Amino acid sequence: LTAGSADALVGLSRDRARIPMGLAALLAAGFALCALPLAAEAARVANPYAGVKWYVNPKWRAHVLAEPGGAAIAGNSTAVWLDRIGVIEPGTDAKGRKTWGLADYLDDALAQKAGLITIVLYDLPNRDCAALASSGELLIGKDGYRRYTQDYIDPIVKILSRPQYRALRIAAIIEPDSLPNLVTNLAVPKCREAAGPGGYVQGVQYTLNALYPLRNVYSYVDIGHSGWLGWDNNLSKAVTLIADTIKGTAHGVDSVAGFVSNTANYTPLAEPFLDKYEHSAVPNDSGLQVRQASFYGWNPHFGEIDYVRAFRQKMIAQGFPNRIGMLIDTSRNGWGGPQRPQAVSAATTPDAFVNQSRSDRRTGRGMWCNQPGGIGERPRADPVPGVGAYVWVKPPGESDGVAKSGAPDPSDPAKRFDRFCDPTYAPPAANGALTGALAGAPNAGQWFSAGFHVLLENAWPPLK
Ligand code: BGC
Repeated sequence: LTAGSADALVGLSRDRARIPMGLAALLAAGFALCALPLAAEAARVANPYAGVKWYVNPKWRAHVLAEPGGAAIAGNSTAVWLDRIGVIEPGTDAKGRKTWGLADYLDDALAQKAGLITIVLYDLPNRDCAALASSGELLIGKDGYRRYTQDYIDPIVKILSRPQYRALRIAAIIEPDSLPNLVTNLAVPKCREAAGPGGYVQGVQYTLNALYPLRNVYSYVDIGHSGWLGWDNNLSKAVTLIADTIKGTAHGVDSVAGFVSNTANYTPLAEPFLDKYEHSAVPNDSGLQVRQASFYGWNPHFGEIDYVRAFRQKMIAQGFPNRIGMLIDTSRNGWGGPQRPQAVSAATTPDAFVNQSRSDRRTGRGMWCNQPGGIGERPRADPVPGVGAYVWVKPPGESDGVAKSGAPDPSDPAKRFDRFCDPTYAPPAANGALTGALAGAPNAGQWFSAGFHVLLENAWPPLK
């Protein structure tokens, strides 16, 4: 319980209201007298990230501390990814080393006296349907929905339900990229199939229903990022699809704590020199709009803060409660370093004006794999109005995908070579630009030392 927080008090009275008073008093007395070995259930709060210590994953921390300069960020909280059935229980990896299961992380969170841990649920059938780098182990055509629900979600929920974890707030990031892929990628057969029975909508609903009874678990549904769904037509489709998916669960709008943007992506929080021009013309120009620069292609949302605020308002208009919180993954969206622009451009054409003023140095906003971004804002609660927390969902230093085709990852053979991770590739839709992906990256999720150093060098705000 976070004493002194208004949210906590609201949560407490709401939870108490469910238990008859006499019984509540009895329970409280029993707890005090017998010192039951059960952890007291944490009160439901509006923002689980506020007022508590966040868990630091020691596995990630060890990688970071082994890198020169890594100590500057090693104390930050990063999410624990449950990216296949095989990581739910302890085991051994392809190199014969012992690996932790979910319960080991939760036990370690208690040992750290952390009040909050962030986990990522990422194993829907037909996962990563529009790309290859993080293709998953389950397919809809191969019993994937049954395996997802029975072999993946149910065992996770069973572990999360253990009484010893009741006092720990658990933020669950639900299935990155899944519903967003159904907004824009239905031309891809694997995504079209994922839009149907036993696919993403049903899978996300199952997960939300399964987590709802655990009142210390806070579900955050992924909403892509501004450079993907920021266009008015994409945004309205996304709002409808995501709202309808959640409303289709047993507890409707109450089954989520909020939404998360920019998971494992590189889109900056804001463009300091450009945000005020999202809806206006290039200064001193013939009237051409800033957002018509090819980098934006008429998308009026240049950064994540602006995007999540708009998204939140639209969800409230769809009937979601005011308490819904927005998370932004800031692990790699810093874009500092020597190339960061120092002033707004004096150019008078949209392209030159935007290209000389923007901090996001990608060759295009659709480039998602191993980009030379930087460590972003450090994780914290309530950073700016309309944002519940900056979180590091993608652990900085872990690859987005392998840069060259080669042998499959023995611990996760479904992952494949995607040309968006290849620095020599010019995607057809990118007007001749190369991907900008860093060379030499290993398979998705594996440690990428050279990439980690680029992130450190380009940190924004700069690291001390
Ligand atoms: C990978 C996962 C990994 C996660 C975090 C994803 O791209 O597919 O296997 O756990 O990134 O690094």
